[in-house]
Amino acid sequence: MRRKPERDTRSDARGIGCAVVILAVALSGQLTGQETGMGDPVQGQKLFAGKDCVRCHAVRSAGGRIGPDLGRSAAKGSFFEIAAGMWNHSIGMEQKIRELNRVRPVFENDEFRDLVAFVYFLNYFDEPGDPRVGEVLFTEKHCIQCHRAEGQGGSAGPSLETLPRGVSPLRIAQGLWNHGPDMVRSMRRRQLAVPQFQGTEILDLFAYLRTQGTGRVAREFQSAGDASRGERVFVSKGCSRCHDVFGGGVEIGPDLGRLDLRGSVTQIAGRMWNHWPAMTEAMEALDMRMPIFSEDELADLLAYLFVSRYAGEPGDLERGRVQYRERGCAFCHGLDGEGTLGPPLDWLTPAEEMEQVVQRMWNHAPEMWGQMSEHQIPWPRFEAGELADLLAFLLQGLSGEE
Ligand code: HEC
Ligand code: HEC
Ligand code: HEC
Ligand code: HEC
Repeated sequence: MRRKPERDTRSDARGIGCAVVILAVALSGQLTGQETGMGDPVQGQKLFAGKDCVRCHAVRSAGGRIGPDLGRSAAKGSFFEIAAGMWNHSIGMEQKIRELNRVRPVFENDEFRDLVAFVYFLNYFDEPGDPRVGEVLFTEKHCIQCHRAEGQGGSAGPSLETLPRGVSPLRIAQGLWNHGPDMVRSMRRRQLAVPQFQGTEILDLFAYLRTQGTGRVAREFQSAGDASRGERVFVSKGCSRCHDVFGGGVEIGPDLGRLDLRGSVTQIAGRMWNHWPAMTEAMEALDMRMPIFSEDELADLLAYLFVSRYAGEPGDLERGRVQYRERGCAFCHGLDGEGTLGPPLDWLTPAEEMEQVVQRMWNHAPEMWGQMSEHQIPWPRFEAGELADLLAFLLQGLSGEE
């Protein structure tokens, strides 16, 4: 089957530039401070075009159609998921690349790390909601019974026409949250169920509200929070009394690292809202008061949650040892990484960054692939957890420091 004529990827690259310019502006270094240990997504954005990813991948519609749209695929659970996705197709894409007459990209310095950070951050910001769907939800979720918008609606709650036009979704979420106690009381009085937000509902609803405002125009778009401030908010607002983030001790609420919390920060805010009833009950039992957020606190809190999920669930060394043997690594690199057909790997230590190890694997993939097909070892494809295990073993199990 013939493909459609090739798209002009230069203009696609520009499209991506627009789609994520907000990213560059909003991040302004806040999220990528040293504490996060992540690469630089702004740098990664440049690599995404520079390394030709954009030829096959779109980001929210701008870009190639050969691979999945990375702004939509919502498969960005953690570093390991992105790295496994890239690794798995590192050989398969070879053929396509040859067809397209391009060279397979290799990475140096922090390039792989930056690129993964960029792909990870694509999910931070919302997909644009649909205000028309939002308008329907405004009625369906009974908001209209208590709030005015477009000149109609009830008056038990404040008119939402006075929100600044284009106000950041997280500001709306914060308002909703802070007014929660009164609002929920007022709902219960009317025997209305506390609304729950599924999927993209909160994005659509807020998109509608953002078109409603009559006041000044907010220029804040969607500001990225500050993750390190957010970590302090997580403690000071009492979240840490009930939640861990990749911990093991606190059990009242789910571990917010391990819980599947895919989606943009506003969608995560929606899920916080959904757990309002359960949370109120749990808080009453602990004699706590519902936290109120001011200024950028909610944005900071969500930035913290978002960033701390990047590193994912740490791998298991022993399971990684099994991967190392069963996937053929031991065949070429030796049981203890001493090297046989392939170079030794026993110089790897826990100090090495996992991004660097995958980068080396990626760069060597064609050479590895050549040897592997000679010895009829199938190309190892990894699930995110398997890659995490393997990396745990490579970094901790081979260093000879056992
Ligand atoms: C020649 C086309 C092509 C190029 C170039 C390419 N990819 Fe892909 N990519 C694909 C295809 C096709 C898939 C779907 C998975 C598969 O078929 O193995 C994919 C899958 C992925 C996935 C997993 C996505 C998911 O939702 O599971 C990630 C992440 C990814 N690519 C990132 C990149 C990055 C980053 C670059 C640039 C270094 C890149 N790709 C370059 C074609 C390409
Ligand atoms: C039963 C009545 C009722 C319903 C239904 C209701 N609200 Fe409210 N809402 C209120 C009240 C009352 C307040 C103000 C509470 C206060 O002053 O503390 C409020 C406050 C708010 C605020 C804060 C406004 C600000 O100035 O920051 C937002 C945002 C909001 N509601 C959104 C919604 C949305 C979205 C829905 C539908 C999903 C909804 N409300 C449904 C009664 C309601
Ligand atoms: C008093 C205990 C308690 C406190 C304090 C608390 N939570 Fe929770 N949280 C829970 C419980 C219990 C659940 C599970 C609710 C459920 O299953 O419906 C939960 C669930 C969640 C969820 C997941 C919702 C989902 O979709 O599964 C998120 C996100 C969350 N909490 C965030 C927070 C944040 C952020 C804070 C701090 C502002 C916080 N929680 C404070 C008890 C608490
Ligand atoms: C069939 C043999 C073969 C298998 C199987 C194999 N490799 Fe390799 N590997 C090589 C060769 C050969 C090189 C060096 C390629 C080069 O220099 O370009 C290499 C290079 C590497 C490097 C980069 C080393 C450096 O010094 O930069 C890493 C890391 C690596 N392999 C890890 C793995 C892991 C993990 C597995 C199992 C999933 C694996 N290899 C499976 C042959 C193999």
